[in-house]
Amino acid sequence: MKTIAVLTSGGDAPGMNAAIRAVVRAGISMGMNVKGIRRGYAGLIEGDIIDMDARSVSDIIHRGGTMLYTARCPEFKTKEGVDKAIASCKAHGIEGIVVIGGDGSFRGARDLSLGGIPCVGVPGTIDNDISSTEYTIGYDTAINTALEMADKLRDTAQSHDRCSVVEVMGRRAGYLALQTGIACGAIAILVPEIEYDLQKDVIEKIKAVHKTGKKHFVVVVAEGVGGVVQIAEKIEEETGIESRATILGHVQRGGEPTARDRVMASQMGYRAVELLNKGIGNRVITFVDNKLGDKDIYEALAMKKKFNVEEYHVATEISI
Ligand code: ADP
Ligand code: F6P
Repeated sequence: MKTIAVLTSGGDAPGMNAAIRAVVRAGISMGMNVKGIRRGYAGLIEGDIIDMDARSVSDIIHRGGTMLYTARCPEFKTKEGVDKAIASCKAHGIEGIVVIGGDGSFRGARDLSLGGIPCVGVPGTIDNDISSTEYTIGYDTAINTALEMADKLRDTAQSHDRCSVVEVMGRRAGYLALQTGIACGAIAILVPEIEYDLQKDVIEKIKAVHKTGKKHFVVVVAEGVGGVVQIAEKIEEETGIESRATILGHVQRGGEPTARDRVMASQMGYRAVELLNKGIGNRVITFVDNKLGDKDIYEALAMKKKFNVEEYHVATEISI
């Protein structure tokens, strides 16, 4: 392959810039031309494509967001959209693409690969909800951001003897909520993967722990569970402990990537280019059992991700 391109798609995630940098520089080191596609598949369809060199990605390794911008592009889910994208690749001489994004973006990469443009997916999402990999770029930073916020909420909850009910992002998944909840010492963590009984698992628990002398509480609720305002109202009504709800929202998507996200992004980006350089596409980069690898996109998309029930159990047992 002589010319490859890189794009970011779906929700942005801290560390995407470090991945773009790795792709661009790996491509150049391997003797290829590298182009940047702006605004994901929307930019590809519209031909919003720029030439990249080693200096185009200077000074971005530590920055959140994505210098190539990102977008959600409904048109790309149609055959016409994919055909336009393939025509755009041909017009710009693009022979392979590194797609940085989540499962949705990988479905797009699969369609492009089927259409004759080999793609390699690099997992990038704060939700860590991609089945084929145990780690996604942005997850570590988002955990730390949510944790920082939860710690601040704990301070004020402590001063007022209150209960703070915090909603953490994650779309339909509870991975980010679980890690944040464990790290901030939440009294209860509600995630979509595990059934819960608000009365028994939260309200009765708070009442019991209150009797042992603890006066302030943090409850972490995954976005996929939702209803933090109602949960806070119910806790206040049933326990008599003043409660406040906070939705952390998009703050979790921004900020400087942690060292872990920068390192993972650099390694994954490089590996994706290595595959394209060998003419291999239709793969996604994975991180399983502490090892980087890659997998067929079809197989990857068909996998189901396990939720760490033991970790959840431990968190419940020690929050007493
Ligand atoms: P993520 O990649 O983070 O999961 P989305 O689900 O929003 O984010 O997907 C990002 C983009 O990927 C979509 O806007 C669309 O252009 C493309 N995409 C999503 N799902 C599909 C699909 N089933 N087939 C083809 N392209 C898709
Ligand atoms: O996938 C990342 C994510 O931040 C999810 O946690 C959240 O559900 C969604 O994106 C929010 O999307 P938007 O940026 O379109 O509001």
